[in-house]
Amino acid sequence: MAIVFDESRKIFRLMTDNSEYQMKIDDIGLLIHSYYGRPTCDTDMTYQVLNVDRGFSGNLYENRSDRGRSIDVLPQEFSGCGVGDYRISSIGVVAKNGSRSCDLRYRSHEILDGKERIPGLPSVRAYDDQVDTLVVELEDKVIDLGVKLYYSVFQDKDVITRHTEFINYSDKKIHLEKAASAMLDIQFGSWDEIHFAGRHCMERQMSRNKLTQDIKVISSKRGMSSHHENPFVILCDHGATEEYGDCYGVMLMYSGNHKFEIEQDQAGAVRIVGGVNEENFSWCLEAGEHFHSPEMIMAYTHAGLSELSHIYHNIIRENVCDRKYMTIERPVLINNWEATYFDFNAEKIISIARDAAEMGVEMMVLDDGWFGKRDDDNSGLGDWFVNETKLEGGLKHLSEEINKLGMKFGLWFEPEMINEDSKLFQTHPDWALVDPDRHPTMARNQMVLDMSNPKVLNYLFDCISGILDDANISYIKWDFNRSISNVFSKNLPNKKQGEVSHRFVLGTYALLERLLEQYPNLMIEGCSGGGGRFDAGMLYYCPQIWTSDDTDAIERLEIQEGTSFGYPVSTMGSHVSASPNHQTGRSTPLNTRGIVAMSGTFGYELDVTKMSAEEKAEVKEQIKTFKKYYWLIQKGDYYRLEDKENSEIYKAWSFVSGDKAETLVNIVVKKVQANAKIKLIKLKGLDSEAIYELEGTDKRMSGAALMYGGFAINISNGDYPSEQLHFVKAQS
Ligand code: DGJ
Repeated sequence: MAIVFDESRKIFRLMTDNSEYQMKIDDIGLLIHSYYGRPTCDTDMTYQVLNVDRGFSGNLYENRSDRGRSIDVLPQEFSGCGVGDYRISSIGVVAKNGSRSCDLRYRSHEILDGKERIPGLPSVRAYDDQVDTLVVELEDKVIDLGVKLYYSVFQDKDVITRHTEFINYSDKKIHLEKAASAMLDIQFGSWDEIHFAGRHCMERQMSRNKLTQDIKVISSKRGMSSHHENPFVILCDHGATEEYGDCYGVMLMYSGNHKFEIEQDQAGAVRIVGGVNEENFSWCLEAGEHFHSPEMIMAYTHAGLSELSHIYHNIIRENVCDRKYMTIERPVLINNWEATYFDFNAEKIISIARDAAEMGVEMMVLDDGWFGKRDDDNSGLGDWFVNETKLEGGLKHLSEEINKLGMKFGLWFEPEMINEDSKLFQTHPDWALVDPDRHPTMARNQMVLDMSNPKVLNYLFDCISGILDDANISYIKWDFNRSISNVFSKNLPNKKQGEVSHRFVLGTYALLERLLEQYPNLMIEGCSGGGGRFDAGMLYYCPQIWTSDDTDAIERLEIQEGTSFGYPVSTMGSHVSASPNHQTGRSTPLNTRGIVAMSGTFGYELDVTKMSAEEKAEVKEQIKTFKKYYWLIQKGDYYRLEDKENSEIYKAWSFVSGDKAETLVNIVVKKVQANAKIKLIKLKGLDSEAIYELEGTDKRMSGAALMYGGFAINISNGDYPSEQLHFVKAQS
């Protein structure tokens, strides 16, 4: 049993194969967080919670004669507000009488087999895994609010998922002003926080900072998870490395406004609270109503950052994304965006597809510009009707022509958006999110649709399904090209305007869900100007997400490596694009562009009709190589290999098969130097006693030699050279 309640000691123990999480109900009903770490052999860890009388840290009334017991110091599961814990609150409330206090105490608990879905939200799927769920209900008796804390334990995946349900048991309204998904208190240690910050065209750059006594906030209020701060935070030992050290991960499965607050308090303890960003949020809970927070995917390992990444890669591949993609090989695609932008017609698309099909590409994706009045990015969004002057014969004809080449056909949409210059806006101006009496803030000259309005969802469903029914479309690229502002729904009363941002996300999820139910074989690739919505929420619906609008292979090294801390390469949309690159003007060899794109879902995004015969032959080989290593790349354990000292000179990474029988090592030199040092790459994850042979040579080395001694390689000539090395266990 992964979850045990010890009645006599009043402790809950949540056990995965390599971790244990503990909490205890104390004598006045506070739910104390006592431990999260390596398994403890059935010890009640509250022996570590010592009473210390700290000035200006008050005591709950029941504890008034015991000054060492302050709610401001005790490690807890879910902090209330306004009653003397001055650290970060997990909840914000306004009761009918205006009171903003909430004092949460244990009410009941139950342990359930398996795991239920969270109403309206994506959540980690249990499938037939060994999963049990603990639900502990806390309550504030004065305002009659219930707070159910859900913990689902994925025993052999070393993951605990959490979310919170808020229930108004009273007969009066309660306004929720903050509704966190999870909180984690860690009493001891010296910690670094790692988060993944960035910008459009440079997403998810690792930022590691030592915690000091203050509050660090990682958040987005852009209405999307954002290019700027990803909803994934790691807390690791100050000394932790790829191979060593305690690491905790918290990843919010949510695509809207998020917030993680990390506080180191007066006593050196650390608290993380994460969930929906409370800015631009309030939820009016009428009598009897419930509110469910998004899910937090939480993991612990004592074995460093690589292991933490592996835990997330595993759960995302198997339980966040649809598991069928663990056995279905996804097609190598070509996308016309960087080949043509808006300037195309059916003939041009077919000519790209024809050349691509000859090289082994399996799907043609038609990007932006095929619908309405859309010859640039100023008009047409919302009018999801094919532009027959551009595409004579429509999508049906085009998809048939593509299918005749033996290729699948995919199509771009940006469903949640609307241009002022569109038929849709002329008919339904009230469907755009616009604050009354103000001009909307424009971005890419577009506005955002009110996804909280069911009529909008029905319209989008009808448009998209009409197109899917008409033509043979296997794939959708689902784009989202601006941050949200002017959040006001004309469809909701004033008192509910604080709910619009969250309802927007629920609307998007509902539409995705409905489409996938209706078209179970449809594959959707997420996108938001590249990776602006690269999060576990979208991954529930989309097995892959376009990682960045920056397709420069050298910049992609940083972007894909940053992304790899939380997300597997099987989710990273990655294409070979033209050289010189359109974003940076940099020229990079085709081989290097291929190696970088292969560490992702792999595809092409350039005008292949302009390629030379040699280049086409090279592409053919690249596709064969990718297909040969497909499952090793998609399912293998991914390792970041280069040492920090040399990361400006080169990047190296590898994939190791589950049975350790083979490894694919990739090296790209970012800075070529004359008379350069030899590069020594220490491989990881191999069977130390096995003998490996470097494919194509007679070089044989033990796994131990490759891991502890390393593999020496001398590449330092030309612009951005690269190599791919395949080591296979030798038959003895
Ligand atoms: C942003 C995407 O990331 C690009 O790949 C492309 O689809 C454009 N939008 C089209 O407008």
